[in-house]
Amino acid sequence: MPTRIDVALGPRSYPVLVHSECLPQLGTTLRSNGLAQTNAFVLTNPDVAALYFSALETSLKNAGFLRIVRHEIPASEEGKNWDIFSATCAALLEHFPDAGASPLVLLLGGGVVGDLGGFAAAVYRRGVPFVQIPTTLLAAVDSSVGGKVAVNFGGVKNIMGAFSQPRLVFCDLATLKTLPPRELRSGTAEIIKYGAVCSNTLFEELEAGALEKLLALDPDTLEDIVSKCVQLKAAVVAQDEFDKLGIRNVLNFGHTIGHALELSAHYALTHGEAISIGMAAATRLALRLGLCSPEFQTRLEALLRRAGLPLSHPGHPELFDPMLRALQLDKKFRNGKNLFVLPNAPGAWKQVEDIPWPLIHSAMREALEETTRP
Ligand SMILES: NC(=O)c1ccc[n+]([C@@H]2O[C@H](COP(=O)([O-])OP(=O)(O)OC[C@H]3O[C@@H](n4cnc5c(N)ncnc54)[C@H](O)[C@@H]3O)[C@@H](O)[C@H]2O)c1
Ligand SMILES: [Zn+2]
Repeated sequence: MPTRIDVALGPRSYPVLVHSECLPQLGTTLRSNGLAQTNAFVLTNPDVAALYFSALETSLKNAGFLRIVRHEIPASEEGKNWDIFSATCAALLEHFPDAGASPLVLLLGGGVVGDLGGFAAAVYRRGVPFVQIPTTLLAAVDSSVGGKVAVNFGGVKNIMGAFSQPRLVFCDLATLKTLPPRELRSGTAEIIKYGAVCSNTLFEELEAGALEKLLALDPDTLEDIVSKCVQLKAAVVAQDEFDKLGIRNVLNFGHTIGHALELSAHYALTHGEAISIGMAAATRLALRLGLCSPEFQTRLEALLRRAGLPLSHPGHPELFDPMLRALQLDKKFRNGKNLFVLPNAPGAWKQVEDIPWPLIHSAMREALEETTRP
């Protein structure tokens, strides 16, 4: 039996199902969750399709799907753009022009497929139902849950998007076996994030060895930790679905400097790597502002290192200026005031407004230098 976590959003509530080797049960699971369509539009990318499309198609056919259209987008963040989004909308219109035969949109892949495809499903005919089928660790613990869907535009990450919740998140952890090791490590950055600011228990579990078990793809640890992360995210999203109350900001720990770096480095870093560097930078800021202890910093950095994640991106001082420009576009910065999500202690955080810019500059400079601490 899969672990089930409910995202409680009133009429937009949905289950997240987490298990191993469950892809063959996708079709029957869709049916038992009230998704009765006979048409499916499967958005994926060539790498993931080569591995999992056939199993998915068989499962859908066995459950009575009659028409299954597969559409592929490029397999990287560079493909998360308006042109590819537009081509995806064109494919939806071309294959399903009849309003009476709208498809169920299935998003088979990582965060790029999920974000772009969720946005296309959100706007096609003002919204058709979609299901997230995450195949990266990062998508399993984070991007497939919560309903933020978007594409990058005008050099800004996720600037065109919507809030649109999936009908179901179906996570087969066995798909992670084919994930490149770098992508697996990248996913652990978001897991460490949850521990650092949402859950002391999770933080301690990771420290006690769950991190290495995750990296070794131990099935029980994966199901346990992925479910815990989804539970933490579901609780935050349930309180602040539309990101209006500041509660959802907690999920942004490490993402202020992290996003600016990810964007400025032109995707030389994965999302998780950039966020790892962003968390280290935000923790330096917290330390200087007296918000966290040196011990917390040591423990966080130790976990990130154990995950094989970077703490800085040395040798690129030229990225400082573009990062600063990108930082001004951060969604949390309003009316000229900066705002950072900073850690207090494992599982606790604080948002701080109007941090003196020289402190931010130092944290950013250090993010572009060799890390000297052992
Ligand atoms: N919507 C949200 O709330 C949210 C949250 C966090 C991150 N994100 C977004 O998620 C994106 C990052 O997602 P990601 O880390 O999943 O990256 P990704 O979607 O680019 O996938 C990473 C790589 O792994 C490959 N891959 C995927 N599954 C595979 C599998 N099972 N086996 C082999 N290869 C596989 C993909 O083809 C790709 O090359 C970013 O755009 C980020 O902004 C969104
Ligand atoms: Zn993230």
